[in-house]
Amino acid sequence: MPQLSIWYFRTAILFLIAGICLGLYMSITHQFEATGAHAHINLLGWVTMAIFGIYYALNPIQAASRVAKVQYMLYTAGILVMGPSLFLMLSGNQALEPIVAVSSLVTFAGVLLFAVILFTRRA
Ligand code: HEM
Repeated sequence: MPQLSIWYFRTAILFLIAGICLGLYMSITHQFEATGAHAHINLLGWVTMAIFGIYYALNPIQAASRVAKVQYMLYTAGILVMGPSLFLMLSGNQALEPIVAVSSLVTFAGVLLFAVILFTRRA
C-alpha cells in the first residue's frame, strides 16, 4: 500500500477515536451543543479521510506525486484546526469564529485540490 494511504488511514483512525471520545463525553454529560463538531470530526476526519486513503491505494502512481502529499497536508491541517475550534465555538467561545472560518476554507481547499487530482492526473 502507498505510504500516503497509510498516512491517511492512521490519521483517520485518530480522528475517529477523537470523534467517539467527544460523542461519549456529550452522552455522559448530556451536553449536546457541540454535536456539530462531533459530526464533522467523524465525517471529515474519519469517513472522508478513509475514502481518500482507499483512492490513493487504488492509484499508487498518483499517491507518489508531490501534489497528493500537499493535498494530504492541506486537508489534515484544516481539520486539525477546524475540529477543536468548532467544538470550542459551539461550546460558547464565539471569538473563535474567524479561526473556524479560515480552517474550514483550508479544509475545502484540500477537497478542491483532491478534485483537481481526480480530473487532471493519470491513473
Ligand atoms: C461510540 C461512538 C459514538 C457516540 C457515543 C456518538 C454520540 C453522539 C451523540 C450523543 C450525538 C448527539 C445526539 C443529539 O444531539 O441528540 C451524536 C450525533 C451525531 N453523530 Fe455520533 N456518536 C458516535 C459515533 C459517530 C460516528 C462514527 C459518526 C459518523 C461517522 C457519527 C456521526 C454523528 C452525526 C452526523 C450526528 C448528528 C446527528 C444529528 O444532529 O441529527 N457519530 N453522536
